[in-house]
Amino acid sequence: MTNPSLDQSTKDLLDTFDRPLRNLRVSVTDRCNLRCQYCMPEEEYAWLPRDTLLTFEEMKTLVGIFTDLGVEKVRLTGGEPLLRRDLATLIRMLNQNTRIQDIALTTNGILLAEQAQELYEAGLHRVTVSLDTLRADRFKALTRRESFDRVMEGIQAVSDVGFHGLKLDTVAIRGFNDDELVDVIEYGKRVNAEVRFIEYMDVGGANDWSMDKVLSHAAILLELSEHYGPIEPVNEKSSAPAQRFLLPDGTTFGIIPSTTVPFCATCDRSRLTADGMWYLCLYAQHGLDLKKPLRTASLDEVKQQILSGWRARTDRGAEERKALETSNIRGRFIEIEKLRQDPHLEMHARGG
Ligand code: GTP
Ligand code: 5AD
Ligand code: SF4
Repeated sequence: MTNPSLDQSTKDLLDTFDRPLRNLRVSVTDRCNLRCQYCMPEEEYAWLPRDTLLTFEEMKTLVGIFTDLGVEKVRLTGGEPLLRRDLATLIRMLNQNTRIQDIALTTNGILLAEQAQELYEAGLHRVTVSLDTLRADRFKALTRRESFDRVMEGIQAVSDVGFHGLKLDTVAIRGFNDDELVDVIEYGKRVNAEVRFIEYMDVGGANDWSMDKVLSHAAILLELSEHYGPIEPVNEKSSAPAQRFLLPDGTTFGIIPSTTVPFCATCDRSRLTADGMWYLCLYAQHGLDLKKPLRTASLDEVKQQILSGWRARTDRGAEERKALETSNIRGRFIEIEKLRQDPHLEMHARGG
């Protein structure tokens, strides 16, 4: 599928802020088996119709175009990606693409114990599990489901089958889990995982968000240093959202401070929804339909649309949200009526 003439011209594909296109997040389903308050606080949701979803073959083709244009890292997300039947098959198909250096998965862990072996054999490189609390009662209150033990088993299964590079993502919420930071780090040590604390973000479906629930990067560091002693930053050049730190005993952990210290300036990521919409930012309200040209035009047409879309990219959503703080008008991002009309605006449709 590679087109050498296009390859030459896209070597330095940059957006309007000189940011390259390196990282693609592919949401394979918008459905989820949890209802986390920070992501899906409502009781009912409008789902993407099943018959509109991309097939694995189409996902593979689109990812192939993206890797022709510079993408090196692919992350499979959801909703909950393990709800998409036979995900291991997609991973095997993506593994045939030698331009992909990293295929990772973000999951809530519920179905991991049963699928970890198959995912590993299919060639998945890395797993990140969302884990916001170590207390079963809090898990139930946050997620409105009883699946805590299955998540614990799933995390155990990741190392049992041989994966390296396990990460645990913890959304830090003031008044909910701010007393568990040390416990989560200690748990991470036991299961050989790097913990990352994520600031609560005012993205699409986060209708319960308010600034006073955000446990900031600075507050997290303060809390941890009171327990562990001096914390050093790890000096590394990276476009990854996490800032990494070192505890006195050598343990590393990360903080993803998207709310108080956005990383838009180096953002090299975009998102593909399960039905083939392409979003240039987590906060973008409009996407580009890639499924239509994929099904009705040529691959070259799709490639040209991605090229011009990325070249015209001006998105820096998290910075714009932060700028609202100066006028004290940072609140809920999108009204619930609007979210109901367009499920693509939800965080669970475009991957966390
Ligand atoms: P690796 O560093 O490659 O492991 O991946 P990652 O850091 O992208 O990790 P992951 O996909 O687990 O994302 C972690 C969290 O970072 C997400 O759940 C979001 O809260 C936040 N995040 C991810 N992508 C974006 C983004 O594009 N913009 C912003 N502002 N936050 C993001
Ligand atoms: N704030 C921060 N992170 C969020 N996620 C979903 N909603 C939010 C939010 N409002 C991220 C979490 C979760 C992943 C699936 O999506 O990191 O682990
Ligand atoms: Fe990138 Fe948008 Fe996230 Fe900023 S808010 S880091 S531009 S996806």
